[in-house]
Formats: sequence, structure tokens, C-alpha cells
Amino acid sequence: MQAVEIRPDVYWVGVQDPELRTFDIIMRTENGSSYNAYLVRGEKNALIDTVKAKFADEFIERIKAIMPIENIDYLVLQHAEPDHAGAVEKILELNPEMTVVAHPNTVEFLHEILNRDFKYKRVGNGKELDLGGKTLHFISALLLHWPDNIYSYLKEEKILFSGDSFGSHYADERLFDDIIGDSFMHDFAYYYDKIMHPFKKQVYATMTKLEGLEIEMICPAHGPLLRKEPQRYIELYRKWSEPLPAREIPKIVIVYASAYGYTTLLKDKIIETMSRLGDFEIRCYDLESVEYARILADLEDACALLIGSPTINKDAPSVVWDFLSRLSPVVHQQLVAAAFGSYGWSGEAVLNIEKRLLTLRMHVVPGLRVRLKPDGAKLKEAEAFAERLVEAIQEKRKNIPNIFLPIFSDIREGKEEAGTGNMREYVSSDLIVYWYPDKCIHDTNCFVNLPEVFAPEKRPWVNLKGADPVAIMRNIDNCPSGALQYSIPETSSIPAEFTGGKGLRKDYRKQK
Ligand SMILES: Cc1cc2nc3c(=O)[nH]c(=O)nc-3n(C[C@H](O)[C@H](O)[C@H](O)COP(=O)(O)O)c2cc1C
Ligand code: SF4
Ligand SMILES: [Fe+2]
Ligand SMILES: [Fe+2]
Repeated sequence: MQAVEIRPDVYWVGVQDPELRTFDIIMRTENGSSYNAYLVRGEKNALIDTVKAKFADEFIERIKAIMPIENIDYLVLQHAEPDHAGAVEKILELNPEMTVVAHPNTVEFLHEILNRDFKYKRVGNGKELDLGGKTLHFISALLLHWPDNIYSYLKEEKILFSGDSFGSHYADERLFDDIIGDSFMHDFAYYYDKIMHPFKKQVYATMTKLEGLEIEMICPAHGPLLRKEPQRYIELYRKWSEPLPAREIPKIVIVYASAYGYTTLLKDKIIETMSRLGDFEIRCYDLESVEYARILADLEDACALLIGSPTINKDAPSVVWDFLSRLSPVVHQQLVAAAFGSYGWSGEAVLNIEKRLLTLRMHVVPGLRVRLKPDGAKLKEAEAFAERLVEAIQEKRKNIPNIFLPIFSDIREGKEEAGTGNMREYVSSDLIVYWYPDKCIHDTNCFVNLPEVFAPEKRPWVNLKGADPVAIMRNIDNCPSGALQYSIPETSSIPAEFTGGKGLRKDYRKQK
């Protein structure tokens, strides 16, 4: 296949991969895929993305038919995943002077892929690259679906190069949606579901950023180029990622398996007790007969998940593990969770499930294990277990980040990005937040769960006015690397019972 001039001086130079049958381990790709890369010619020339390593030679030949690799000034890398960064090594071998233009995280990841130095220029939201007659304007698309994605908008041609967003795994040399027809729409939706939906909050926010942008063509990194009513694709992403309305009545999902009905008896008692203690919408599923998709849909706006399982051969049975494997910390970490079950002699199931729930970063309430048939005193234990759960659910609802507590932070002017060496300091009268960039592992917990406070694209990137200090502390407690920490100044009005947490600076006492 030849390079295709999709607009004056803008070329598709990607690769079709019709034989591909699985992608990223997690997707079936019956229609193959493509790795779309683009070349933009101005007074300077920019390549946008590359292809999988095994197609590097084909890719390079395609570019060479337009211009020598030595004439390319910039490589705009919109995301460092190897399906788009795989040919960077060969391209830079041919032209070591080429400057990689990318988000700082992409630059960092690319260093770990190439394992050597290269010329680079870091860009972020709102920055532009002037090619002389052609201008690329960058839009942050962090977490769609890595912590490094950016879009590039070619102003003169009104083209949005969107990286993985709006992609489909669909190989077709005809390239354009208006020629191909709607046959790829199933793949477009499936791609959204598998790659983007876990980050639906960020998808929705990013679609809002695109409002008001005149777009005549969307050029994604996989599948057809979208020039037939491009807005309809944006509308689909917006619709699919729309937040569900807030629930007044909390929803609890209970899933269970039970061979002889003993675990079922526990489940019934738990439901009965919870219903007595509060107004809950309880959805209950037998794991042996339900489609996991139904449970996952229900979990989207649930506040708690309970898992009932007997112990079978020193473990939970495979239906339980299969279900647990469908859960993800990216999507489900906000849930209150607990396990319960009947067992005969060793009873490992509940403990093993709890370990999994902890790795899913859920708020885990200690589980309930009962030997064989629950009756009398054993059912009382189930009742007490349900009471603890209700308490935990109510407590968690009180602590949802961003609830309003009557504590106000006043930011001291000029102190926001103070700090020494590799530490930044953000100060309010209630809270001091420290950030150690070198420790950050881009886990994304901070800005995914509290975007009003942590906004990597802004300076200062920490805004202590964005939420109440307790919500900020609880968020920092979940920073897995210790890159974010806090201490409590003497002026703080935060009640003492809220101040201890994993994120509290170890030398906090010395500061007082
Ligand atoms: C095939 C099989 C293997 C089992 N393995 C274990 C085991 O390794 N450890 C244990 O504590 N109980 C084991 N049990 C006992 C069950 O956990 C116990 O019967 C439990 O009460 C079943 O609860 P249910 O009727 O809700 O399924 C096993 C039961 C079966 C049928
Ligand atoms: S939560 Fe911690 S490790 Fe993760 S991105 Fe934020 S600062 Fe970095
Ligand atoms: Fe990707
Ligand atoms: Fe990709």
C-alpha cells in the first residue's frame, strides 16, 4: 500500500495489519488492525506517531516515497505504547537529529523503551508546534488510556490526530469511513468498551475540551479515518462516558456461589439485616448462572460489593475467581467490599478473596467465615457482619472526596510551588502538601480521584482550594509511591481524629 495524501501536505504513512487476532492480550481483533501514522509537511516536517516494531521497514519505505527520513524535523509521539512507538528506534537511527515532541510522561517512558538518550521537546495542553505554514496545537488526553496521551490538532486543516481515542481495530486499505461504510462501527464500540471505558471519567472530561473546536477530520491511531460527520463520533464517546446520575439510595451488589445452600443462608441473613438497617437497593446474583456483564453494569453506580463463597479444595471456586478477574482497580477501587462464606475445615476462600479485594484497592471490611450450616449463633454473626458493613458504607459515603466539610483553606500567596530540590510544597492554613516528583510512579490515583485538586496540566498543579482538606488527605493516603505527603500546621482546624493517615509525613512531629 502507498502513502495516501489525506489533505494537502498531510499524508497517511501507517501500516495495515489484517492478520492480527488479539490486541494487548485483552481484545479479539477479528478484522485485524492498523497502526496509523501521519506525516505533516510545512517549512519543517513532522511525523505523528510510528508503528509496531515488526512493521518498521515497511513504514520507513512508505515515508521515503514522500521524503528522506533525514528531512523530518520532529516526531510527535502522542503516546508511548509500543504499537505506536515500536519504530521510533529505527527512525532515530536513520535521523538522530530528529526531535521527539511529546508529553513529559511519554518522554520518560520512551527513555525506558529505547534505553538511551535522544533529542526531545516536552509539550502539554495548549502548547503549539509551529512547522511554518502548519501548526500543531496539543490537547492533553491523559489517561486515554495511558498516563501520557495527547491529541494534536492541525489548525490549518482542522484535523484532530487523536491517538488511540476514536480508534477501531479494523484493517481496511480504503482508509476513510465514508468509503468503508458503517461496517466498522461494531469494532469502534468494542474498542471504546475495552480500551477507553475503564477511564470514562477522563473520556467525558476530554470530550468537553473538544467543544468549540472545528474538526473536519479525526485521524485516530487505529482503524478508519473519520471524516464523515466527525462530530458524531465525539457525541458517541460523550454519550458512552456520561456520568450516571447520583444515587439517593445507595446500591449494594451481592454475588455468591453455594454448592449446598449454606453460603446462601448467610447471604439471606445479610440481606435481611441490611434491609432492616437502612434504605438500600440490593442487587443479588448467583455467580453460577449470571452474565458477568450484568454485574459489572450494576457496579457502575454501586457503593459496595459483597462476595459469598464456600471453600472448595482450600480456595474459592473458579466462578468466583473468574468474576474477581473481571474487576479492576482502575474502575472499582471506590467500592466498600467484603467476603463471606461457609466452610468445612480449613476455610481459605474468604481470606483469599479479601486479598484480591485489597489488591483491587477497595475499602475492605473484614470478612465472615462460618463452619458448615449457619444457624442460631452463626446467623447472629452474619447479622453483626451486616451491621459492620452498613456502618462502613455510611462512613464511606460521608468521606466521599469533595463532600463539603466546614473547614476552609486559605492559600498563602506565593507559596504554592515553593520547596527545595526535588520537593514541592503547597501550603494552606489547614494543610501542607508535599510532592516529590522523583518518587511519582504515575499511578494516577491523585488526579483521577480528585481532579479539582490535582491537575497535572496546570501550574501550580496542586490546588488546595479544590476540595476540603480531609478529602485531600484521604486521597494522598492512597498515593502508592509516597510522592505525595502532607503535614498539619498548627493553624489547622482539622479535627484530630481525621489527621492520621498513611500520607502523613514521617517527620511531622519534628515540624510542630
Ligand atoms: C469438592 C469440595 C471441596 C472442598 N474443599 C474444602 C476445603 O479445601 N477447605 C474447606 O474448608 N472446605 C472445603 N469444602 C467444604 C465446603 O467449604 C463446605 O461444605 C461448605 O459448607 C460449602 O458451603 P456451600 O454449601 O455454601 O457451598 C469442600 C467441599 C467440596 C464439595
Ligand atoms: S498518586 Fe502519587 S504516584 Fe500516583 S500520580 Fe499521584 S503523586 Fe504520582
Ligand atoms: Fe495505546
Ligand atoms: Fe494503540
